Amino acid sequence: MAVTQPAASADQPHPAAVRNPYSVLPNWAYPTFVVVLLTAFSIYAAWVVLYFQNGRFGPYLSPFTSPEIDVAIAGLAVPTGIWIFWVPLAFRATCYYYRKAIFRSYLWHPRSCAVREPRRGTYRGETRLFVFNNLHRFAFYLAAVQVAILWFDAIDALIPGGRLHLGVGNALMLVNVVCLSGYTFGCHAFRHLAGGDRDCFSCHRLRHRLWRGVTVLNVRHDRWAWVSMFTVWGVDLYIRLLMMGVLPAGHWN
Ligand code: FES
Repeated sequence: MAVTQPAASADQPHPAAVRNPYSVLPNWAYPTFVVVLLTAFSIYAAWVVLYFQNGRFGPYLSPFTSPEIDVAIAGLAVPTGIWIFWVPLAFRATCYYYRKAIFRSYLWHPRSCAVREPRRGTYRGETRLFVFNNLHRFAFYLAAVQVAILWFDAIDALIPGGRLHLGVGNALMLVNVVCLSGYTFGCHAFRHLAGGDRDCFSCHRLRHRLWRGVTVLNVRHDRWAWVSMFTVWGVDLYIRLLMMGVLPAGHWN
C-alpha cells in the first residue's frame, strides 16, 4: 500500500514525525538497539585487547588474539590484541551497513526516511573525515586474510597434536568462523570485485557465478554483521571464562 506524506508548507517547516512505514517497531527501537549493543561490544573489546596478554585455553584461541604475536617493547610484553584489533575495527567501521547504522543511531543525521531529526544541520554526506570510508576495500583484503587464519585456528583446535578433540569450544569456534565468512564474503566491495565491474556476464561465466554467490550473502549483510559480532563476542567470552577459572575445565569443553 502506498504511503503518502503531506507536503511541508511555509508555516510548517518541519513535517510532523510519522511512523516508519517499513517497520512495526517504534522509531526509537532500532537506534537504541544499535547504540546499546555496539557500545557494549566496544567496551568489552577494549577491555579484552588492553587487559589480556593473550586468549588461549588449551587448543582454543580467541579471535581477538589470533594470530598470536608475542612482542615485548623495552621489556614490556605488548598484548597480542593490540597488533590485531585494528583490522576488524577498520573493516566494520567502514562497512556500508555499519555506516548506515552509525549515522542513523549515533549521529541521528540523516536519521531515516520519513522520520523527523532532532537536529537539522547541513548534511554533507561522507565528506571530510568520512572520506576515509572509501578505504573499505583495502580493509576487506586484510579481513579476508584474518578469516583464513581463523579457519586455520578452528581446524587446528579440532586436531591439536594430530588427535581429534571435540568440545563446546570447537563448536563455538566453527560457528564463529562460518558467521564471519558469511559477513566478510557478503561484503559490497567483494561483490563488486567478484563481478560488479563486468558489463557482460555471459562473457564471464565464472565471475557471474561468484557474483551470484556473493549476492546470496550480500542480501542479508546486516544480519551477518550482527550475528558475526555476537559469535566473536561469545567465543571470546567462553575462552575468557575458561582462562579465568569461572567455567570449570573438563573433557566436555
Ligand atoms: Fe559490510 Fe563490506 S560492506 S563488510
